[in-house]
Amino acid sequence: MKFDGKTAIVTGGSRGIGKQVTSKLFKEGANVVIAATNSTVGENLVKELQKENPGNKNKVLFYTTDIAYEEKVKSLFKFVLDKFSKIDILVNCAAVGFFKSTIETTYSEWEKTLDVNLGGTFLCSKEAAKVMISQGYGHIINFGSDQSYYTFKTSPVYSPSKFAVRAFTDVLSRELTEKNIKVSLVMPGATDTSFAGKIEGSDKNKGQLTGEDLANAVIYILSQPDNVVIDQIMMYSLKFPYKV
Ligand SMILES: NC(=O)c1ccc[n+]([C@@H]2O[C@H](COP(=O)([O-])OP(=O)(O)OC[C@H]3O[C@@H](n4cnc5c(N)ncnc54)[C@H](OP(=O)(O)O)[C@@H]3O)[C@@H](O)[C@H]2O)c1
Repeated sequence: MKFDGKTAIVTGGSRGIGKQVTSKLFKEGANVVIAATNSTVGENLVKELQKENPGNKNKVLFYTTDIAYEEKVKSLFKFVLDKFSKIDILVNCAAVGFFKSTIETTYSEWEKTLDVNLGGTFLCSKEAAKVMISQGYGHIINFGSDQSYYTFKTSPVYSPSKFAVRAFTDVLSRELTEKNIKVSLVMPGATDTSFAGKIEGSDKNKGQLTGEDLANAVIYILSQPDNVVIDQIMMYSLKFPYKV
């Protein structure tokens, strides 16, 4: 299988886009550790994937982590290294969003958004970079958004957080490319998940990208030859163009 022997961490790998990424990596032979806060949802996904893939010798595990906290992120990476001794792939998918006007946005929503979306991506990338630099290889894929380039008026903090993820990812790739570590950024447009109070499968989301569309992009990025790096992918649905 394509990812036999590889170890991957997928933050936010229990639901939405991350769930599809986890599923594809696990089906293709990788050992996958899902990191998210809700252990019931995460453990259920582990059981579901094990049931669907009875012949797989590779592992899928859930580890409870709030990526906004440095000690929890460190504990996640220790867990993965204790189990698998290396990390080939980190997919930073976890994020939160609050969509309202500036005056309606509370400071705690501002802090939470930046702590999870930007801080969590930084903390996980930092721990992965330490391991990958010592290994001499690895691939970090961060999730931005169409809102890494374009703002919406109900997005006073989500959009800044995703602009900043794009900037951070750019810096990270400048730092790590020379160390043989790939860094990529995926920027989805509207996607049918339960993100920020949306309801996956609802009529309102009809025509949006699916988690599987984005997971296919991640697999494409990871499937390039050793010398090829996909720097950025922005995707949107023909039915939900971001260029409005
Ligand atoms: N859906 C869209 O329309 C859309 C558009 C553009 C970009 N994106 C981006 O795509 C990525 C995936 O979004 P999605 O739609 O799949 O979202 P989702 O369905 O809401 O899933 C978010 C995932 O992140 C986890 N998570 C949230 N806070 C966390 C924290 N503090 N620590 C660890 N895990 C945490 C959630 O699990 P727990 O709740 O258990 O923690 C869940 O697994 C995000 O980066 C998002 O910004 C989404």
